[in-house]
Amino acid sequence: MAVYQKIGVLTSGGDAPGMNACVKAVVNKALSLGLEVVGIKGGYAGLIAGDLVPMTQETVSRVVSYGGTHLLSSRCPEFKTEEGMAKAIQTCHENGIDALVCIGGDGTFRGATDMTLRGIPSMGLPATIDNDITATDYTIGFDTALNTTVHLIDCLRDTCESHARLNVIEVMGRHCGQIALYAAIAAGSVAVAVPEVPFDEAATIERIRALRAQGRRGMTVVVSEGMFNPDGTPYSETLAKKIQAETGVETKFARFAHVARGGNPTVRDRTTASEMGVKAVELLLEGKSNLVVTKEDDRLSSMDITFALMTDRMYKNTLKEGDLDCFTPEQIEQMRAICDKRRAVIQHLYTVASHVGH
Ligand code: ADP
Ligand code: F6P
Repeated sequence: MAVYQKIGVLTSGGDAPGMNACVKAVVNKALSLGLEVVGIKGGYAGLIAGDLVPMTQETVSRVVSYGGTHLLSSRCPEFKTEEGMAKAIQTCHENGIDALVCIGGDGTFRGATDMTLRGIPSMGLPATIDNDITATDYTIGFDTALNTTVHLIDCLRDTCESHARLNVIEVMGRHCGQIALYAAIAAGSVAVAVPEVPFDEAATIERIRALRAQGRRGMTVVVSEGMFNPDGTPYSETLAKKIQAETGVETKFARFAHVARGGNPTVRDRTTASEMGVKAVELLLEGKSNLVVTKEDDRLSSMDITFALMTDRMYKNTLKEGDLDCFTPEQIEQMRAICDKRRAVIQHLYTVASHVGH
């Protein structure tokens, strides 16, 4: 058992609905065990600046239903420098912070590892709308973003139906097509384009032409923001123009962007955030650190952050020389299995989307 007196909690990177519920769970679990908790405002920027706020049951009592993050967030390049990191460690020492819970995406976990390596045991909790963390099947915020996205596509479909139009919709997700795939299936879109699977543009255009010939009025096509033209410009807008030019179907374009990142978290996000928050505190008190809490086949679990980050690189084909040197052949095999499973999920969703997308 580790003996801590005070832990810090922060939210970092892109905000995600459910982050507040997660903070609440960390705070209430830690307080129930007799620990003090400080909130670090604005992610790692707040750690560098010493922007801290004492956390009590009262400070978190009403946040569970709100989107965004009450602890605020930032992208903080200074934290990646030795100087920034040293200031962050100094803040911990000066304020008696013994350990950290860092809620965010893989960038946030890299920061957590850096803090652990410098003597402040840290845990990572996966919160990003993208569901793009290879270590976990699920990230806090994904379900809310999906529900918002699908609601908005439904709205567009109503007006498309009235005017016999098609709407191409670009959704967030960075390099990961999960938001696009689930949304396209749930909204009944006629096609979806994601970075992980080759997109057959000609076949899509042909299908739209055929559907119009059969009398179809309203149609939607979902494109992930991770799809680019060779010159680096977004593919979504290009596709919209091509569809109109080549099929004659009047085609509108919508970029949902950050709107799908806000809003009150769904039950799934609140409950997942709550169980993960509790788990992070339990693991810390068991003397563990540098772990990311995960969902694996719907079960709560955890994974070493370094292992998780290298698995992520393996999945994205961005491994650098020496990255795997400290892992056993069994561990590398385990990483491959995780990557294969993830690829299979994407392929399965794509297949389902193409079966139902008519
Ligand atoms: P996310 O956590 O959602 O992936 P970012 O990639 O922006 O979002 O990362 C959040 C923050 O984590 C960054 O602003 C930075 O402060 C910190 N961070 C990101 N990458 C690293 C890294 N390689 N080393 C240390 N800290 C990092
Ligand atoms: O990681 C979440 C996310 O919303 C991505 O989907 C998107 O690419 C990115 O963050 C946008 O970042 P920012 O809020 O810095 O514009």
